Amino acid sequence: MASLTVRQLDDTLKKLLRLRAARHGRSMEDEVRVILREAAAETGHGAADRFTPAASSKHKAATTDEDGPRILLIIGGGIAAYKSLDLIRRLQERGARLRCILTAAAQHFVTPLAVGALTGERAFLDLFDPQSEFDVGHIRLARDADLIVVAPATADLLAKMAGGHADDLATAVLLATDRPILIAPAMNSRMWAAKATARNLAQLTADGVRVVGPNAGEMAERGEAGLGRMAEPLEIAATAESILRRGAALAGKRIIVTSGPTHEPIDPVRYIANRSSGKQGHAIAAAAAAAGAAVVLVSGPVNLPDPPGVAVVKVETAQQMLEAVDAALPADAAIFAAAVADWRSESESASKIKKQPGRTPTLKLTENPDILSSVAHRTSGRPRLVVGFAAETDDVVANAQAKRMKKGCDWIVANDVSAESGVMGGDTNTVHLVTASGAESWPPQGKDQVARTLVERIAVALDGDKR
Ligand code: CTP
Repeated sequence: MASLTVRQLDDTLKKLLRLRAARHGRSMEDEVRVILREAAAETGHGAADRFTPAASSKHKAATTDEDGPRILLIIGGGIAAYKSLDLIRRLQERGARLRCILTAAAQHFVTPLAVGALTGERAFLDLFDPQSEFDVGHIRLARDADLIVVAPATADLLAKMAGGHADDLATAVLLATDRPILIAPAMNSRMWAAKATARNLAQLTADGVRVVGPNAGEMAERGEAGLGRMAEPLEIAATAESILRRGAALAGKRIIVTSGPTHEPIDPVRYIANRSSGKQGHAIAAAAAAAGAAVVLVSGPVNLPDPPGVAVVKVETAQQMLEAVDAALPADAAIFAAAVADWRSESESASKIKKQPGRTPTLKLTENPDILSSVAHRTSGRPRLVVGFAAETDDVVANAQAKRMKKGCDWIVANDVSAESGVMGGDTNTVHLVTASGAESWPPQGKDQVARTLVERIAVALDGDKR
C-alpha cells in the first residue's frame, strides 16, 4: 500500500492545510485525518468506525462543525492523569469533539495548556471564573455533552460524586448533568479495596453511572502494583463508544448477571464447588454493557478479566452471591448464569482437617439458598425478566421446562453439557431457549455469540415487555 506524508504535499497545499489546521487548533496530521473522514462519510464509507450518538437520544447536543458527539472529559487529580492526554486523542480519533475540566488536583499532573492544545478549546478549571461562567457556564457544560467521562476518577472524586457534593466545577457539573456518565477509577490498590470506596462505587452504579476498570497491574507510582490501575485509553474509548453507539438496545436498562462457580469452604484449604469457567456469564455481562445497559456482574472465583464497562462484585459463597444480588436490585432483568453449589458443609472447620490413618471424615451438608428461585419468587422488586440457566445431560428441553416452572423464572437457557457436546470449559455452547411459549434450539455457536443473541432477545422482551 502506497504511503503519503504531509511533507510530500506541494507547498500551496501544505500552506492551506497549515492554515486550516491552525484554525481548528489541530495538528496537520489530525487535520488530514478529519478531511479523509469527511470524504469517507460523504461517500458513505467509514461512518461505522465513528461514534454515533444514540438515535433515540432525546437531548442531542448542539451541533458543531463536525458531526461527532460531544464528550466532556473530567480529569481528576491522580498520577494516571497523564494517560488522559492520550485518551483525548483516542476519543478524537473516533470523531468525538472534546471539552475538558481539570480539577485543582489534576493541574498538579497535567497542565491546562497541554489539554487546551489537544482539544482546541481552553480547559475549564474554576467554578468561580467569571469568564468561563460568562462564556459557557457550568450548567451548559453539563448539558452540552452526549457523554461525560471521568478519567482518572480518584477515590476522592468517587466519594464526592456518591455524596452529591458540588464544591468545585467538576462536581457541580456532575451533579447538574442528566447525561450518561462513565468513570474510569484509578487509585492505589488499598484505596480501591477500602470499604468506603466499595460503598461509594455501589452507590454510583445504583445511580446508573457506568464504570470501566480499574485493571490489575503495575501502577504509575514506582513499586506499586495491584487492582486500581486506570483502564487503558483505548478501553475507555471503546466503552464510551459502546455507550454512545446508535441503537444501544439496552440503553437506560439495569441488568444483573451472576457468573462462575461458588466455593463453599470445608476448612481453610478445601471447598465444595461446581465446575464452571464463568465464560458464558462474563460474555453475557460484556454483551449487555456493549448494548448500553448498566450491568452489575456478581461473580464467583474465576480466572477471567473483568469485562469492560461492567461493575463487578466478587464473591466466594452462595450466601454471599445471594446478598450481592439482593444489594444490586432493582433491575430490569437478571440473568443467573452462575453454577451455584447446591450444598455447603454444615460447619466450616476453623483449622485444617488432618488425615488420620483408617478414619475418613464424614461431611454433613446443608442446602444453599436458591438465588434464582428467591429472586424469581419475589413479590416486590422482581426484575421484569428473570432468566435462569440449566445445565442438562439428558432430555434437555423437557428438564429445562420443568426447571423453569419450579424456579418461577421467565426463561431458561438450557445448555447441553453432555460429554459429547464439549461445552464444559470450552468456547462453544449448544443452547435451547425455553420460555412459556415453547423452546427454541440455537445452532452450536461461540459463547460470545450466544451472549449477543441472548442480549438481543432480552432487549426485545424489555422493549415490548413480552416474555
Ligand atoms: N441457581 C441459583 N442458586 C442455586 C442453584 C442454582 O441461582 N443455589 C441457578 C443457576 O444459576 C441456574 C439455575 O439456578 O440459573 C439452574 O441451576 P441447576 O443447578 O441446573 O438447577 P438445580 O435446581 O440445582 O437442579 P438439578 O441440579 O437437579 O438439575
